[in-house]
Amino acid sequence: MKLKLAILGSGKGSNCKAILEAIDEGRLDAEVVLVMADNPDAGILRLAKKYGVDTEVIPECRFRTKLDETVETKVAERIRKSEADLVVLAGYMRMVKSPMLKAFPGRIINIHPSLLPKFKGLEAWRQALEAGEKMTGCTVHYVDAGMDTGSVIARQEVPILDGDTPESLHARIQIAEHSLYPKTLANLAGKLMQGENEPGRKKS
Ligand code: GRF
Repeated sequence: MKLKLAILGSGKGSNCKAILEAIDEGRLDAEVVLVMADNPDAGILRLAKKYGVDTEVIPECRFRTKLDETVETKVAERIRKSEADLVVLAGYMRMVKSPMLKAFPGRIINIHPSLLPKFKGLEAWRQALEAGEKMTGCTVHYVDAGMDTGSVIARQEVPILDGDTPESLHARIQIAEHSLYPKTLANLAGKLMQGENEPGRKKS
């Protein structure tokens, strides 16, 4: 059985692309069953359509940093309907709140452009550069109620080079993300699917 993924994003979707490519190339035994975005113009939606994946636009909300509770409840229902095993945040720019956390406990993951627990929050690459670090990277982690505080699943280091600008560093981190996210998902797929196939264990 393949791991079914629902991907949530807000932007261009380069991580989503890396995941879809890994699936196409046989490096990741999974299926993307749904892509949702909170911005109707997000590149991630065009990309998903190109790959023949179902897409859905999340309706506008009052706050920029989170969804309205009623909207997030509907998002969780839509993901449940898709029968996704795992919710994958890929450039999703809002906090995940209790409707999603309750619906998918331990089943929401994110990729963040720093070596967590260092440099949580926005523009983490710029934070690392301004702090004078020599090394940063990216982290795949479980999502909890905090901002970038959930337990770490995997990290990949990226050096900060003399003369780096925020843009050059971010680009180098993204290359690492595109390798780390599919690899980490492949590991998780193995573990989760083994769990699902254990005798007596039913999908919740
Ligand atoms: C990535 O840098 C990721 O770390 C952060 O948002 C960015 C998403 O980029 N959470 P993309 O939409 O996958 O290109």
